[in-house]
Amino acid sequence: MEEPIVIAIDGTSASGKSTNARLVARALGFVYVDTGAMYRTLAWYCLKNGVDVHDPRAVARACRRWKTELRCVDGQVRLLVDGYYPEKEIRTAEVSAAVPHVAAVPAVRQWMKRKQRECIRFGNLVMEGRDIGTNVFPETEFKYFLDASLEERSRRRAAEGIQENLAARDQRDSQRAVAPLMVPLGARVINNSQMTPEQTSALILEDIRQRLAARQKARSAS
Ligand code: DC
Repeated sequence: MEEPIVIAIDGTSASGKSTNARLVARALGFVYVDTGAMYRTLAWYCLKNGVDVHDPRAVARACRRWKTELRCVDGQVRLLVDGYYPEKEIRTAEVSAAVPHVAAVPAVRQWMKRKQRECIRFGNLVMEGRDIGTNVFPETEFKYFLDASLEERSRRRAAEGIQENLAARDQRDSQRAVAPLMVPLGARVINNSQMTPEQTSALILEDIRQRLAARQKARSAS
C-alpha cells in the first residue's frame, strides 16, 4: 500500500497557517491536524489542574500522566483529554500566555511528536505547526513556510479581537532550545502580506499538484 502523504505547513504566528491548512485539506480531501491546538490542550490541562506551567518538571509529569485519545471527526484530528474535547477553552488569553512555556519542555515536544506522527493512521494529512517540516515529518517533500510582515500579522490578530505581542511570541518560538521555529530545509516560503487566503492556498495547491504529477511521471518511467 502507498505511504500516506503529509503536507507540512509551518510559519510565524498569524501568518495564515490555520486558514490555509484548512483550505488545502478541504481541496485535497486530506485530514487536517492543528498541532498548536494539541500544545494548547496541554496548557489548558495544566492550568485546570493547578500544574505550574513555569515548572518544566511538573509539566513533563502532567504530560506523562494525562489520559488522552486521538480521534478524527469531520476530517479533523482532535486530541481528547479524559474523553473531553476542550475546543473553546484552549482559545482563551490565559491559555495563549501559558502555551509557549509548555511547548518549550523537551519531554512535551517528544510526546507531541509521537502523537502527531500517529495521526498518519487517519490517512493523508495536512498538518500545521511550527516544527512539522523540520522535526515531526522531516521526510516529507511537501513543506511550506508561511510568513507576513509583523504589521500585517498584528492587523490580522486585531481583526480577530486579539491584542497580542506577536514579536515577543515569535522570538520565544524561534529561540527555544528544542525544535525552534525555523524554515525547514527545502520548504517553499510564502510571504502572504499582500495575498488573500484563497491566493495563498491556490499557490500551495498548485505546487502540490506539480509535485504529485512529477512523482507519477517518475513512477511510470521506472
Ligand atoms: O498556532 P498556535 O498559536 O495555536 O500555537 C500555540 C503555541 O504552540 C505557540 O506558542 C507555538 C506552539 N507550537 C509549537 O511550538 N509547535 C507546534 N508544532 C505548534 C505550536
